[in-house]
Amino acid sequence: MAKRSLTGIKPTGIPHIANYIGAIRPALALGEQYDAYYFIADYHALTTVKDRQTLIDLTYEVAAAWLAMGLNPDRVTLYRQSDVPETFELTWILGCVTPKGLMNRAHAYKAAVADAEAQGKADVDAGVNMGVYCYPVLMAADILLFSADVVPVGRDQSQHVEMTRDIAEKFNLAYGDVLRIPELVVSATSASILGLDGRKMSKSYANVLPLFAGPDEMARLVRRFKTDSTGADEPKDPESTGLFQIYREIAAPDETRRVQAALEAGGMSWKELKDAVVALLDDFLAAPRERYRELMADKAQIRRVLAAGAERARPEAAAMLARVRHAIGRQPVSL
Ligand code: ADP
Ligand code: TRP
Repeated sequence: MAKRSLTGIKPTGIPHIANYIGAIRPALALGEQYDAYYFIADYHALTTVKDRQTLIDLTYEVAAAWLAMGLNPDRVTLYRQSDVPETFELTWILGCVTPKGLMNRAHAYKAAVADAEAQGKADVDAGVNMGVYCYPVLMAADILLFSADVVPVGRDQSQHVEMTRDIAEKFNLAYGDVLRIPELVVSATSASILGLDGRKMSKSYANVLPLFAGPDEMARLVRRFKTDSTGADEPKDPESTGLFQIYREIAAPDETRRVQAALEAGGMSWKELKDAVVALLDDFLAAPRERYRELMADKAQIRRVLAAGAERARPEAAAMLARVRHAIGRQPVSL
């Protein structure tokens, strides 16, 4: 039987090109070789999304983006985290074998504390909710509930998967060999894609190319990419701008070599590179854009996909939770 891969997608922003290159595409590729599970981690998003309509909108947008970029719900399983409530019971049980000190070491929590310290706050926990603090336990429950063999994540999430392994080992030590210890697969994309202003492309910097911007908006944003002042016929460093990184990730290898050689030889201006990126993205995104538009115009389609995914996932989650309950000594009572 194929091994299981599982990955969560937090609906916290409108998907952009770097999300596609760094997260969506590598995760979809794993679907070729694994029994792949993908879920919208809507309850993880609650740590930061505090607006009802925003959570609703982002959940649809993120699901539609993955479907439009090629996730095939007939071949892989796509569900929404909160439709598998077994997750939250397991979260509590795992929390009870998780050392508090482990959570103190989590990067996101440590960063929040460092921030508060830097601002001279008397209470370093100011602004940290329990969701942020316990985030890694919820993530462990997501993973362990489905006995994932591998968890593909970006580098920023690898600590969480290490913590999942620790938590599973603690549980198994206390209660027997119930939970599968997952392997971590860190996505191969080495460099971060740079955004319009030359910093890492990120929604936090508002420097992104949204995957589903219309063609005119996309062209406008590509033309705004910062480039250095090398003249049209001077040699250029292709790596100095995200434009070439994006080109390389999407174009055919021989096209990329041609563009790289032209830039390095001073045979291509930045303006020409921008034109090439606009044309490339237009072509590459034409079909996904159409599919995305269709899905967003008929959200019942998205709900049906998520409902079917939950229907497939839940019996498995229930069976695992039953084993966990049995292991901890929580016996059924019949009334
Ligand atoms: P953002 O940086 O816009 O807040 P997220 O942190 O939500 O994006 O990222 C989701 C995933 O997308 C990350 O785990 C990472 O793999 C990928 N990703 C985000 N930004 C980049 C980037 N600039 N280059 C490559 N991959 C990225
Ligand atoms: N924490 C992940 C992120 O921020 C999302 C996530 C939640 C996840 N649960 C998961 C990823 C389980 C992999 C496995 O991107």
